[in-house]
Amino acid sequence: MSINKVSMYDVDSHIAEAYDSDWETDTDDVEVIREFMAGQGTLRILEPFCGTGRILLPLLEDGHEFVGIDRSQAFLGRLREKLSRVPVEARRRATLIEGDVITLPWPTRFDLVVMGGNCLYELGTPEEQEHCIASAAASLKPGGHLFLDNDHMEGELAETWRRPGRHDHLEPFTCEDGTVLKFESETIWYDAPRRLHRSRRYTTVTRPDGSSQTIDFIVQKHPPSLAEMRSWLSAHRLGVVLADETPERATYWARRDC
Ligand SMILES: C[S@@+](CC[C@H](N)C(=O)[O-])C[C@H]1O[C@@H](n2cnc3c(N)ncnc32)[C@H](O)[C@@H]1O
Repeated sequence: MSINKVSMYDVDSHIAEAYDSDWETDTDDVEVIREFMAGQGTLRILEPFCGTGRILLPLLEDGHEFVGIDRSQAFLGRLREKLSRVPVEARRRATLIEGDVITLPWPTRFDLVVMGGNCLYELGTPEEQEHCIASAAASLKPGGHLFLDNDHMEGELAETWRRPGRHDHLEPFTCEDGTVLKFESETIWYDAPRRLHRSRRYTTVTRPDGSSQTIDFIVQKHPPSLAEMRSWLSAHRLGVVLADETPERATYWARRDC
């Protein structure tokens, strides 16, 4: 199991609603994937950390075959609900696997593995992150591609990760049924040179009847550096064919050697 045994995605099914409505609604990365893979026909695509299907669903609707892996029952539940509304023919091209990407054997023979949406941030150590790059390489057919898209937080760690005390780390969110979600974080320690941050997270769920519950759990973060991502790709025989490295973000297209 990954060092982060619980994440906020597991806390309550309302979190998936907040994710879809507020946090991650951009689909620029889907357009980047469409553009890069254009003209290559129907692809067999694997998306570890598929969440509620922000990337998976539009590509499924383009006609591709998809396997998604995620460990959050709530997020996969929301994705299943969305899949129940797409045409049966498209639904048949999607397979969902519930499990931890660190312990699960990943399926193989894919044309494309998508690791978008900052998914490496879900893993708390460089070892786990490299393990995922190795698994992605093993899941690809020779000549298949990996899409890796991540903030790298090169230099100082983000200010909120260095701030002492308990503070909001995301805006509170009000769900359609009136449930209110509050997200707080309290730094336990950080080590900027090693790019590690450990915090206690508090997620408070207040129901419309006023009853409230706070769930707390520990999370470790490791923003991967540009050098780490490049070295993992190279160590696992994934040749970079396109790289877009900005001061905040790194996006790589890498091809598995034959
Ligand atoms: C930020 S969401 C990203 C979802 C999607 N890739 C996107 O870009 O919209 C991260 C997802 O990773 C999943 N996740 C985190 N750690 C995981 C692990 N160790 N194994 C499998 N899934 C994990 C969470 O449950 C959550 O659905």
